[in-house]
Amino acid sequence: MTTTHTLTDEDRANLESLQAQIDSSPVGRGQLIPLLQKAQKTLGYLPEEALALVADHLEITRSEVYGVASFYNQFRFNPPGRNPVKVCMGTACHVRGGEIILENFERKLEIKEGETTEDREFSIERVACVGCCALAPVALVGETLHGHMAPSKVEGLVLRVRVEKEKAEREAAKQ
Ligand code: FES
Repeated sequence: MTTTHTLTDEDRANLESLQAQIDSSPVGRGQLIPLLQKAQKTLGYLPEEALALVADHLEITRSEVYGVASFYNQFRFNPPGRNPVKVCMGTACHVRGGEIILENFERKLEIKEGETTEDREFSIERVACVGCCALAPVALVGETLHGHMAPSKVEGLVLRVRVEKEKAEREAAKQ
C-alpha cells in the first residue's frame, strides 16, 4: 500500500477542496481515473486519505482504487520533495554509473527511489535522458543540473541544500 507521510495543514486543506470536487462529480467506474487525476492535481500526490475519498464516492474498495492507481506511472503516492533529486538513467548516464549515483542518494537520504524524506525536503526519482549526455552521469537537485556526478559529490549536494535552508530560516526569523 502507500507509504504514510503525516499530513500537513496544506494537505488537509487540499483534501477538503478535493472532497468538494468529488461531491460534484458523477458516480461510476469510468470516473475512477479522472478522479485520481483530480486528486493528484489538487494534492500533488495520492495519500491514502485521497484514495479513500475516491473509493467512498465510487463505492468501491480502497484496495481496488490503489490497484488501478498503482498500475499507471502518472500517479505518485509520496509527496513531492521541495528539492526533487532526479537521477538520469539515459544510456550515456547509465553506462557512466548513473545507478551508483542513484544508490548513493538513496543511502544518504535514507529513502528509496520514488520516496520522499519525512521532512519533505527531498524525493528521489530516476528520469530518462535530460539532454546533457556530454556531462554524464547527470543528476538534478531541484532545478539545478549537476554534471560529471560522482558518489563523492552526493553528500556535498545534500548538505548544500540543508545549509541553504537553515540560512533562509535564520533570515526569516530575523525579520
Ligand atoms: S543520458 Fe543522461 S543526459 Fe543523456
